[in-house]
Amino acid sequence: MLIQNGNVVFLNEVKKADIRTEGRYVTQIADSLTPLAGEEVIDATSRYVFPGLIDMHVHLREPGFEGKEDIASGSAAAVKGGFTQICCMPNTNPVTDNAVVVSYIINRAKEVNLCKVRPIGAITAGENGEALAAIGKMKQAGAVALSDDGKPVMNSQIMRLAMEYASDFDLICLSHCEDKNLLNGGFVNEGRNSTITGLKGISRAVEDIMIAREICLAQALDLPVHICHVSTYSGVQMIRDAKKNGVKVTAESCPHYVALTDDIILSFDTNTKVNPPVREEKDRQAIIAGIADGTIDCIVTDHAPHKATDKNVEYAQAAFGISGLETSFALCYTYLAEPGVLTLPELARRMSYNPAKILHLEGGEIAEGKVADLMIADLSKEWTIDSASFVSKGKNTPFNGYTVRGAVECTIVDGKVKYSA
Ligand code: DOR
Ligand code: ZN
Ligand code: ZN
Repeated sequence: MLIQNGNVVFLNEVKKADIRTEGRYVTQIADSLTPLAGEEVIDATSRYVFPGLIDMHVHLREPGFEGKEDIASGSAAAVKGGFTQICCMPNTNPVTDNAVVVSYIINRAKEVNLCKVRPIGAITAGENGEALAAIGKMKQAGAVALSDDGKPVMNSQIMRLAMEYASDFDLICLSHCEDKNLLNGGFVNEGRNSTITGLKGISRAVEDIMIAREICLAQALDLPVHICHVSTYSGVQMIRDAKKNGVKVTAESCPHYVALTDDIILSFDTNTKVNPPVREEKDRQAIIAGIADGTIDCIVTDHAPHKATDKNVEYAQAAFGISGLETSFALCYTYLAEPGVLTLPELARRMSYNPAKILHLEGGEIAEGKVADLMIADLSKEWTIDSASFVSKGKNTPFNGYTVRGAVECTIVDGKVKYSA
């Protein structure tokens, strides 16, 4: 395949170039390449060619909750969103805490054959927080990381053992930071808006205490840890300081923490309900600054699809989560790249290169000899988010009706077109 005339987003620059792929790989990059006989040609004139996006935090719901999403619908949403590789969280039913479920997900994803699906194994059996899961067997079966996401690992000794055991298998623990006891039934940010609405608040400390603990463990053990979905200004501060002190901590945040504040809960729309909750303007600004200076390494979706019946209930009863795969790139472009917070190479690092590095995955950059996982976008195109057009089963988004810029036009996985607008 030959991709001609595109603006190619390399690690440190954007440059017009032609890209040739053969089989699974990028084999040639040059100012101008002539099509070979029989070669498929994609005209990328005035378009941008990115490394395929990598989302290290999604919920695909299969096995067990296929009414919310399954590997086929989630993969379709991923390639539509420009993702060539996604890592799926283990809060399935049964929980992905053993090699059989890991293998099942890998095999099903291969049948679906859209994007690469990398399972994340549970830290503890059943995500119960009590005993370690079958970590070695899951690694052998193809798990790329460990997490009890959806739940915290409250027992610090279990978390310590998990980090030690994980490192023996060259895996990293991804921590859902939430002090279950301090949570006390909260479900929105604790502050002025929780007071106004009477909705029960979650203080920043619920998240920050666990971020602090993970930093302490990483420092004490000199082992890596990754902080999931950072939502607080104070969490960003702690992670920045820890990194300065040489602690092996990495972190992610999500488009909703970049684009929204808890003013949206005044609508009582349950599509705004997510865990951790969207917070205040000072948190939003700190998340943006953290993404800009690299304190926050990655932008993930935390794609959490739910059924209409999970959301069409009283706010307190509604499920937590946002369906994010089909809006992430445009939101990140609109809120981070277009305003100049991130250059395009920096955006590509947050959404592709850094997750690949943290989890030791292939992909993440466009270069000769690298895998041909690519995404082509029209950055001038403006469009309006409409959840009815989602291919994900989860139509739950607080961004319905938002006008954004940046449209994914083509997603290429292993040198094959898997999505074309
Ligand atoms: O909003 C969320 N949804 N946060 C989580 O931690 C879990 C996730 C889910 O699985 O729905
Ligand atoms: Zn989580
Ligand atoms: Zn999650």
